[in-house]
Formats: sequence, structure tokens, C-alpha cells
Amino acid sequence: MALAVAVESGDALGPEVTAIGLPAVVADGGEGPILLGSSGSGAAGRDLPEHLDAAWCEQQGFAAKPGQTATLESSPGGPKVVIVGLGSGEQIGLERWRRAAAAFVRSAGRGGVGALLLPPDLVDPAGVGAALTEGAVLAAYRFGVYQGTAPPAGIDRLVLRCGDEDAAAVTEGVRRGETTADAVCFARDLINTAPSDLTPTRLAERVVERLAGLADTSVEVWDESRIEHERLGGLLGVARGSTEPPRLIWAEYRPPAGDGAPHIVIVGKGITFDSGGLSLKTAEGMTTMKTDMSGAAAVLAALSACAALAVPVRVTAIAPCTENMPGGRAIKPGDVLTARNGATIEVLNTDAEGRLVLADGLSLAVELAPDAIIDLATLTGAAVVALGRSIGCLFSSDDALADRVRAASERAGEALWPMPLPEEYADHIDSDIADMKNTGAAGQAGSISAALLLARFTGDVPWVHLDIAGPARSAESSGYLTKGGTGFGVRTLLEVFASYGGG
Ligand code: BES
Ligand code: MN
Ligand code: ZN
Repeated sequence: MALAVAVESGDALGPEVTAIGLPAVVADGGEGPILLGSSGSGAAGRDLPEHLDAAWCEQQGFAAKPGQTATLESSPGGPKVVIVGLGSGEQIGLERWRRAAAAFVRSAGRGGVGALLLPPDLVDPAGVGAALTEGAVLAAYRFGVYQGTAPPAGIDRLVLRCGDEDAAAVTEGVRRGETTADAVCFARDLINTAPSDLTPTRLAERVVERLAGLADTSVEVWDESRIEHERLGGLLGVARGSTEPPRLIWAEYRPPAGDGAPHIVIVGKGITFDSGGLSLKTAEGMTTMKTDMSGAAAVLAALSACAALAVPVRVTAIAPCTENMPGGRAIKPGDVLTARNGATIEVLNTDAEGRLVLADGLSLAVELAPDAIIDLATLTGAAVVALGRSIGCLFSSDDALADRVRAASERAGEALWPMPLPEEYADHIDSDIADMKNTGAAGQAGSISAALLLARFTGDVPWVHLDIAGPARSAESSGYLTKGGTGFGVRTLLEVFASYGGG
């Protein structure tokens, strides 16, 4: 059950509060960190100094760094008091509020009610409310499906205590944050599910369940015969090695009265298990490959939040889904596949399967002549080598769209870094017998050659490709990430959609 978040203003803290959170920022001078919540709101009748004692902080090793916490001695039976660092006091960005809320949830103790005391007159009260809610709910996330009643991570309930003047906006932000965090948790649940319990068929069923009854939202699932009829040669080729049939999930959100709204197509790689196929991975290399549908999970989860957030764009999500297995009918190195748009691809490594299914997904997207296409895929190990586990690779054919996605990712707290699509490397995917091959030059620019192949299926539509092989999974629980699937990309997509509204 998700952590519940409520907003309260006024002075009294109820007796149910078991932990009080006090945000603190780094002071400019040599003094100790400054407590932000101290003015007006009062911490259960405590007199709070403006500055924390520098010597005490030094002794605690507390410097109010973002996400850092220190716990004050509490009176017997009284609530625990946790000081939460926000870093420098100037322009506290939303990501620092997210991390602060996560740190509070993780250190406020198990069970009970945590009250986080916010300073009065916030600059962006709605943004702060949303960010705190996202950070808190995502930090409290647990995947308990196979563990009976998994113990909750932290507090049961979070109260955001703010000034009267901010209460309405913070409340509005909390509602948005809950919707966003719920979508991210849905993506995490799909990603963390065991691969034999999340076949393409089951994935499609779970998405249909999730979208059922949502306003202005529809979903269609293509089975194997429809996929054949539609000539999705890449998806069919990858699926041949598996006894599980492939699926293509097609979901749409149309804003009410939004005939002129921009149309964004989001495409996600949905490999529910990547064994590598006949180009078999190592035993170690396969251990995390149930997460190879993280792109599909992200686009479908984002789509599921569009109605509740009333996003100002039309969104179509396309997720080609299959296992990549080495069965007797599997594609062989040397085989040639014909994608939806008629282009032929020589498969020299069956483990480079993501680009084969995305070739079809992107071809379908282009046929809709949308205003933009964004694809998300755990596409290459080379992306992890290039940018590590916290930063996704951003490739784009259009600078304006790339800027929009990067700005959105910054607001969302999901790091992306631009990568090139150099013409000089076009020959890396030259094939002797087909239009292109599915491998690049040995040992060189592996995430780029994959992106160059995808680019051939995007026509003239402005396009962004996010290779999320690094950040889609976390090796540990820290901050608002939990070990396993992260749901990376959901928040960026929702920020991209929102960016088309208003001014
Ligand atoms: N799903 C993998 C990429 C991956 C690797 C994601 C590690 C997350 C962590 C992808 O299908 C793959 O196997 N790519 C190959 C491509 C190569 C054979 C050209 C790779 O990166 O090794
Ligand atoms: Mn692979
Ligand atoms: Zn893969």
C-alpha cells in the first residue's frame, strides 16, 4: 500500500505524530546550518533556534547536504526529530526537495506518522508539494508480491505542514505528485515481476487492466496474427525463438476538446526477457534481463497518468513486446528481416534485438505523422559504459525537441546527457547483403550505432531516443530509488507533456 500524504496548516501537531522533519540549509557564514521550518510553524511546542549549534553539527557530521539527516535526542514518548539537509539555501531546486522527503521517510522510523515542517511563503508551493510527494512515495515503494506481507519501508503517513498561504497550492501539488508517483510505481511493479509471470501476454493484460475505465484513454493489443498481418518483421523475427507469442500494445490518450493539440508518440522496448537468443548471453549477463521491458513499462505507465493529469497533448504509446529466446525456430546470425517500412536488416547478433523490434514500432509511429516521437529502450550495454548507471543517453534528430526533453528531465530529476548521431559513423551499420546490419563496429560507439539504425525508421518526424540501459535499474535502495526497476523516464515523459501547455 502506498504511503499516504496529507497537507495541514496551522500550529498544532497532533499526538499521532511519531516523527518531525525539520528542513535545514547550509548557512552562508561560518555558523551552523539554518533551520527552515522554525519560523511560525513550531515543532510541537519546541523552541527552535534559527541556527543549529555548529559544534553539535560537526560532532554529528551534519552539514545540511542534500538528503543528509541528523536525529535530535527526543523526550521519552515524544516524537523523534529528524533534521533533513537541503544543501545551499539559494534556489532550492525540486530535486533537492524530492531527496529531502526520501531521506525523511527513510529515517523517520517504521510505522507511524511523519510531519515535515515547511517554511512559510514557498517560491513554488505546488512544485514543492509534488516533489516532496514523489520523493516520499517512491522512497517508501516496496515490491512485495513474492514476499507475502513485506514490511513497510518507513512511516505509514506523511503530513506536509505548511503556511496557510501555501496550503491550497501544496495540496494541488500533492495530488499531482501522487498521480506521478503511482505511475512510476506501476512501472516498477511491471519491471520487478519475474519474467515467466510477465510474458508479453501478461504484460498486455496488466496494461489493459490498468487503463480500463480511464477517461479519454483507450488500448488495443495486437496478437500474433495481427502482427503478421501488419508485417512487423522485426518483432516477429525476435519472437521466433520463444514459445511465448509476441504482443504489440497500442494505447492512446486524447485530450477532451483537444483537436488541435500536439500529438506525441512514445515507443518503448518491451523485451520481457532477453537471453540474447542464439547469440546467448552469459549466465551472469542474463540475471537482470527481466528488466529489458523498462522502456515499454515507462511509456505505458506515463500514458496511464495522462487523464488524471489532464495533459494538454494527444499521446499514443506503442510497445512491441516479446521474449528473446534461443528456441529451435530462433533467428540465426546471418538471417535477414524485413521491417514494417520495407527496410531489410541483416541480423549478425541476435542479442541486438531491441533495435529490431523498435524498427517496427518507430515505423508505425511515423505513419501517424505526429509532432514528435520519443522512444525509450534499455538498448545497449555501451550506454552504461558511456554514462554509468545514473544518466541516460539522449539522441535526437531535432534540437528543439532535444532541448524540450532535456529541460523536462531536469525538472523531473532524471538525468540525461546528449549524444551525437554522426554521419561519419553511418558505415558502422553497412551490410553486405541488406539495407543495414544490426551490429556496429567492434568495440566502438555501440550506443551510437544502435541509435543510427533507429534513426533510419523515423522519417522526417522530430525524434528523441533515450537509451536507458543504465538508469532503468538500481543496484541499491538509496534516496527515492529502490533496488531493482526504477521506472526511469515516466516523470520525464509527463513533464514533456506538461511543457506543451500554457505559455
Ligand atoms: N538488453 C541489452 C542491453 C543491456 C545490457 C541493457 C546491459 C541493460 C544492461 C541489449 O539487448 C543487448 O544485449 N545489446 C547488446 C548489443 C550488441 C550485441 C551489439 C549489447 O549491448 O551488448
Ligand atoms: Mn539483447
Ligand atoms: Zn535487450
